[in-house]
Amino acid sequence: MMTDDSRDAYRAPVGTHDVLPPESDRWMTVVGTFAERATRFGYGLVVTPVFEHTEVFQRVGASTDVVRKEMYELVDRGGRALALRPEGTAPVVRAYVQHRPTPPWKAWYVAPHFRYERPQKGRYRQHWQVGAEVLGVDDPEVDVEVVALAHGFYRDLGLQEVALLVNSMGTPADRQEYVAVLRQYLLAHAEGLGDEFQTRAEQHPLRLLDAKNEDWQDVIERAPQLTEHLSDDSRAHFEGVQRGLDALGIEYELAPRLVRGFDYYTSTTFEFVSDALDAAQNAVGGGGRYDQLAEEMGGPATAGIGFGIGIERLLIACDAEGVLQPSHAPKLDAFVIDNIGDSSAAVLVSALREAGLRADRAYGGRSVKAQWTLANRAQAAFGVMLGRDEATRAAVAVKDLATGTQIEVPREQVAGWIRARREEAEHGS
Ligand code: HAM
Repeated sequence: MMTDDSRDAYRAPVGTHDVLPPESDRWMTVVGTFAERATRFGYGLVVTPVFEHTEVFQRVGASTDVVRKEMYELVDRGGRALALRPEGTAPVVRAYVQHRPTPPWKAWYVAPHFRYERPQKGRYRQHWQVGAEVLGVDDPEVDVEVVALAHGFYRDLGLQEVALLVNSMGTPADRQEYVAVLRQYLLAHAEGLGDEFQTRAEQHPLRLLDAKNEDWQDVIERAPQLTEHLSDDSRAHFEGVQRGLDALGIEYELAPRLVRGFDYYTSTTFEFVSDALDAAQNAVGGGGRYDQLAEEMGGPATAGIGFGIGIERLLIACDAEGVLQPSHAPKLDAFVIDNIGDSSAAVLVSALREAGLRADRAYGGRSVKAQWTLANRAQAAFGVMLGRDEATRAAVAVKDLATGTQIEVPREQVAGWIRARREEAEHGS
């Protein structure tokens, strides 16, 4: 059947993208940096399925767009209602409830997420997140640890213009009381702001606080704030978080109108925004507490907190700040040039690789000239040529591809010789 889409059948679907070298080098750095940092903080990698039973995500917020309008839902051949992961917290909590690991349980993840959104720069139908969750401890110090994990990660990458916004959503009871006050206020000021304002004030007053509509801003800005309606416990927790952040020297801004898009949030919520990006898509990470979620999924009452960071958006922020840019450092230590034609090139490449060096070669009987071209294109530090002359002396010709200098090195010493040069380059001597 010829549909509009079928012409594009062999292109990645709208809102998705391939990640190829050299861009994928940056992905390796991002994921590697996060993995290393999370491990250092005592978090273990958790891998959950790309799809879950749809109910798992219903807990995330039946009233939220992500669940109501944007979920990729499917029925499998066994008649099961499944959904592709729209967000990463619910699957981790589901895994916690299923396996009951001993709390505190500190998990990190890297995973694709799926939301049927209107694609634009920084907003995709498949995006990737690195994230972390801690289950089983209700202690403001944990909130501080989780925020510090994310905060330090941005700094690891060299980002300077990422600001931290912090808020508290209180307990569900605090919120219920506040929502009533807020609704009353919004409806009292709804005159002239249109039907949509009226409807939203009635149905989702909290989410109205996040609305971008210019005409509403005056009323929104003067609205009563949730943090003024916190119970004593919630306020004490929130103050504990602020004291902890202060102690670690982590700068933050209190953002009483920060409303995160999921129903599961309680208590501390936070967002990292990049001042280098357009306001519409400037959230490079966000998270918060969800102290009821495990129980809602049939588990024991378990406090939880975590965050997710969108990798694509993070990389856009890196571009905007000019950090994590493609490096001109060699991608290979050695490229072997075969001017003999027997198996010695295969043996030498293998020996170099097994010795821990990054080594490659050409295939398909290319001319020596073509092989040198490939060596340069591969961004190798050295070309290592196997020639008949050198072979009679059990040696190889090694050419520094940056300077063009060529010397002869005994075949048996070439791996050690290249490694020594690499270490010199790495240590700047
Ligand atoms: P979220 O704020 O929906 O939170 O997403 C986290 C981050 O993912 C965002 O700050 C943004 O960087 C990125 N992101 C979200 N949607 C897209 C998209 N369509 N395209 C590109 N990037 C996107 C969560 O998902 C929560 N699970 C975070 C969390 C963890 N809360 C507690 N634990």
